[in-house]
Parts: sequence; structure tokens; C-alpha cells
Amino acid sequence: MPRILTGIQSSGSPHLGNILGAIRPALALSNAQQEPSFFFIADLHSLTTVRNPQELKKNTLEVAATWLACGLNPQKDYFYRQSHVPEVCEFTWYLNCFTPYPMLANAHSFKDKSANLANVNAGLFIYPVLMAADILLYEAEVVPVGKDQKQHLEITRDIAGAFNRQYGDILVIPEPLINEQVMVIPGTDGRKMSKSYNNYINIFDSEKDLRKKVMSIVTDSTPVEAPKNPDTCNVFQVYKHIAPPDEVESLRQAYLAGGLGYGKAKELLYEAVLQNFQKERILYQELMQDPAQIEKTLKQGEEKAREVALKVLNRVRKAMGYY
Ligand code: ADP
Ligand code: TRP
Repeated sequence: MPRILTGIQSSGSPHLGNILGAIRPALALSNAQQEPSFFFIADLHSLTTVRNPQELKKNTLEVAATWLACGLNPQKDYFYRQSHVPEVCEFTWYLNCFTPYPMLANAHSFKDKSANLANVNAGLFIYPVLMAADILLYEAEVVPVGKDQKQHLEITRDIAGAFNRQYGDILVIPEPLINEQVMVIPGTDGRKMSKSYNNYINIFDSEKDLRKKVMSIVTDSTPVEAPKNPDTCNVFQVYKHIAPPDEVESLRQAYLAGGLGYGKAKELLYEAVLQNFQKERILYQELMQDPAQIEKTLKQGEEKAREVALKVLNRVRKAMGYY
């Protein structure tokens, strides 16, 4: 079975889009195999945007609790903070020296921000190289990511190829695994649900806040009696990913038949979120009440991860003539 690895930045608390689009699919893949997978919190990447130490800590804790509440098994899988395996920084330097400048200058993640170059730091520029190091340091074979990360995986493969051409077969070349279907969960305003648009649903919110968020989803002004199109409705587009299939079908029929108001659809969505994430919500609260336990879990993961990292890094160091 191929080795699975993926990371999530700790630039905010994970939302429904992150969970459905990234966390759950990655865990489903991993839980279907005996071999351990590698899941980490990309807290070094977060430094390109988060500078407040309290915020960084809080985000890291929330991301960790989310993974664990969603079913990550730290006994089987490797679960760690990127920053706590500092070997990745040394490896990033080596890889930097095999990364052509134009490749980074053409990365979307950089280009999108380069209109205002005064605000771009070198960390943001070499973001894809650190990501390549994350992947290559653990000999990952399959990397489940959202479509937005596809280019970063191509860069990783190019860098590994350049390195191997120089030194022989040292690095494992990974494959991206992109789930096009669940890629875009819409946010409350109809755009892609994203931390950066502040249009996200946090499934771990209190019932009151969660309800308020769901009720704020933008809909059109079709009157209650009129038939409605489920495929263009933001409420239904979220509902279909979380309700049981027969209930999704009956809501679809109710849309088409008319007589159902959007308020009612939102109620159903709110109930479906509570239902679907009942277990996760309880677990999350428990986990967040005991940060020391999360810390302990991560520390254990980091010790294990470091062993794997050092093995690969020593091979790299030797190949380059440093040892
Ligand atoms: P955000 O846009 O909230 O900053 P990230 O870029 O940190 O999210 O994404 C983390 C992971 O979650 C990525 O793998 C991404 O593909 C996935 N993801 C983010 N938003 C969505 C969404 N609206 N629908 C599905 N998956 C998403
Ligand atoms: N760049 C990824 C994102 O924003 C997070 C990430 C960092 C990552 N390193 C990784 C994902 C390695 C997969 C593999 O979502």
C-alpha cells in the first residue's frame, strides 16, 4: 500500500470545507489501510501569514483537535507539528539549491500576491520548496490535496527529479490525489467556503452560533410556493454532502415540487450538521479541554516522525557529500 501524507496549515480554525474536502477524505483513505499515514500541521507555512504567537498556538491546537475528533488514530498514524521536526528546514535549504527561480516565480500562490511585492516575504516565495521538503522527507507516495495544491505537487516532483538526476535514486517521487468532486463546498455567501472570505461554517461552534451561521446562507428570492432549483441553491449544495442519501433525495424532491421555503431548508441543514458531526463535536470539546493531552499526543508523533525524517535526511546528506 502506498504511503499517504498530507498537511494542513494552521492559519485559522478548520471549517466544514476543510473537513469535507481534505480531512475526511484523507482519513478515509488512511483508515482503509494497515500502514501508517503521515498527517501534520503545517505551522511553519502559517508563519507566512500569522505573526501573533497566541493565535499561532490556538490555531495549532484547533487543527490538532479537529484531526483527532474526525478520527485520526495517533497510535497507527504519524501525527505531528511540522515545526517540531526541524530537519525539514535543513532539507528545504538543500532543495532550494535545486529549484529554478522561474518555477517559484510562476507558482500561483506567489503570483496571486505578487501584485504587491513589498508585502511578499521570502518565506512566501519558497513556500512550495518547504512543501516539497514536507513530502520528500517522509517518502510519501500519495498526497491527497485540494485542486489548488496541484501545482505545488508538480513543483515537488520537479525538484525531486532534479535532485535524483544529480545524485541517483535518493528521493521518492510522489503522486497527487485530487478529489475533484468534493472540491468546492460553497460558503454562506455562495463563494468557495474559505477562511479568507469569512464565509465559513465552523462545525464546532455552539449550537446557537452554528444555527446563526446556517441561517445566514444567501439564497435567492423565489417565493415559498414556487418550485426551486436545488443545484443552484447554496443550502442544498452543502446539505447534499452531509445528509443521508435518502434525505438528500427527499429534499431535492421538495425543492422541485415547490411549497418549501428556504428557511425550512436551512433548518434541515442545521439539523443535518448536528447529526452528521455529533460524535466529532463531543470529542472536540473533550479534546479542547485538555490541551496537555493534545500536546502529549503530538510530542509522541513527533518523536516517531523524526526517526523517519532522519533516516531520509542522512541518506540525502551522504549523497551530497556532507557526511
Ligand atoms: P482556506 O481556503 O479556508 O484557507 P486551505 O487553503 O487552508 O483553506 O485549505 C486546506 C484544505 O482544505 C485544502 O486541501 C483545500 O483543498 C481544502 N478546502 C478548503 N476549502 C474548501 C472548500 N470550500 N471545499 C472543499 N475543500 C476545501
Ligand atoms: N500548502 C498546503 C495548503 O495550504 C498545506 C501543506 C503544507 C501541505 N505542506 C504540505 C499539503 C504537504 C500536503 C503536503 O493546503
